[in-house]
Amino acid sequence: MNKVRLGIIGMGNVGKHHAGYLLEGKVPRCELVAVCSTSPQKLEPYKAKGLKVFDRAEKLVPSREVDAVIVATPHYQHTSIGMAALEAGMHLMVEKPISAHKADAERLIAVAKRHPKQVFAAMFQLRTELRYLKIRKLIQNSDLGEIVRMSWIITDWYRTEAYYASGGWRATWRGEGGGVLLNQCLHNLDVIAWLLGMPSRVRGFCQLGRYHNIEVEDNVTACLEYPKGATGVFITSTGEAPGTNRFEIAGTRGKVVLENSRLTFARNEADMIEFSKSAKVGFVKPEVRQEDISFEDAATPHATLIQNFVDAILDGKPLIAPGEEGVHSVELANAMLYSSLIGQTVELPMDSAAFEKKLQQLIAESKFEKKVVEIKDDDFTKSFHR
Ligand SMILES: NC(=O)c1ccc[n+]([C@@H]2O[C@H](COP(=O)([O-])OP(=O)(O)OC[C@H]3O[C@@H](n4cnc5c(N)ncnc54)[C@H](O)[C@@H]3O)[C@@H](O)[C@H]2O)c1
Repeated sequence: MNKVRLGIIGMGNVGKHHAGYLLEGKVPRCELVAVCSTSPQKLEPYKAKGLKVFDRAEKLVPSREVDAVIVATPHYQHTSIGMAALEAGMHLMVEKPISAHKADAERLIAVAKRHPKQVFAAMFQLRTELRYLKIRKLIQNSDLGEIVRMSWIITDWYRTEAYYASGGWRATWRGEGGGVLLNQCLHNLDVIAWLLGMPSRVRGFCQLGRYHNIEVEDNVTACLEYPKGATGVFITSTGEAPGTNRFEIAGTRGKVVLENSRLTFARNEADMIEFSKSAKVGFVKPEVRQEDISFEDAATPHATLIQNFVDAILDGKPLIAPGEEGVHSVELANAMLYSSLIGQTVELPMDSAAFEKKLQQLIAESKFEKKVVEIKDDDFTKSFHR
């Protein structure tokens, strides 16, 4: 095979975005040949361009028209369609979150493990952004020393009532499985897990429908504790304006701060713990050197991840975001929410069956009535976050 025949399942906001750069030829050795959506009007422009169109994933998957698919549907279908695609012998790129909850993620990963020759990747495009790659290097090179604290205030995921009304699945337990944590923050939670590994304990305080007429969480504060004693705070909201995006990691050798597209590293000239032990007076501090770290925005982050997916299929290149790593962000989102719902700290790895049961209970008890309103001419790319 010297070219990947690709299909997209789910032609909403993000499916359309993927189709756009693929049809412009931005990903060499990849041909978009088929699109699939349960909304037939979304298929017309692609039919006119000569692509194969399908109104159901159940028809595209066995069709043999494609070697690989991007699954860009609402969350629960990531698992069912993803598993079907893998079982049918296809390579799979699944949109974030890889599943609506951890138990489903485990099911999807189990199927991927049974098909090790097929590539299973996840759409975590922040991993292509230099700002996070540079922070990762500081951690890997031990420039930060031992990590002691992390905090991310990411309250600038502002969304309007019209956004939530734009899709029947959005912000419902039944259709989405969660709110700001599982949708918008999945990217940030992936970055945290990718950079720092998983915490051992999580305590979340989630407010359900604090700012919007929705049944899921839209305002969250969570505390995290890591196995070696580092602590973390994660604060997010879709209701706060202007909001803040400040990511800070402190280690024994310094502190890195990413805020307002500026990345700074305050480098301690001595390890703060050793300095404390050896200092002979009480009010001194290690000397500190301020370093500005320059970076550029990734030009086409989604296309870069699809290029990497194609290179993994054709050349065996390592994945930037392997699908199975997607379980971590799902688990963080689930743990913060579950902890809040039961009013207790949750130990990780969390009990995925217990959370699934709680979610099913929320679905069964829901009295929420969703009003869907069509949004016209909205600029979806404005929703992208770095
Ligand atoms: N990586 C990113 O930057 C990014 C950005 C936005 C959304 N997303 C993710 O992409 C997914 C879709 O989000 P969206 O905003 O595009 O949603 P959307 O509601 O705009 O679109 C979803 C589409 O899926 C179709 N669909 C639903 N069930 C289907 C099925 N069984 N088979 C085929 N098509 C089906 C619907 O008809 C709709 O067109 C979500 O998981 C979301 O979290 C990722």
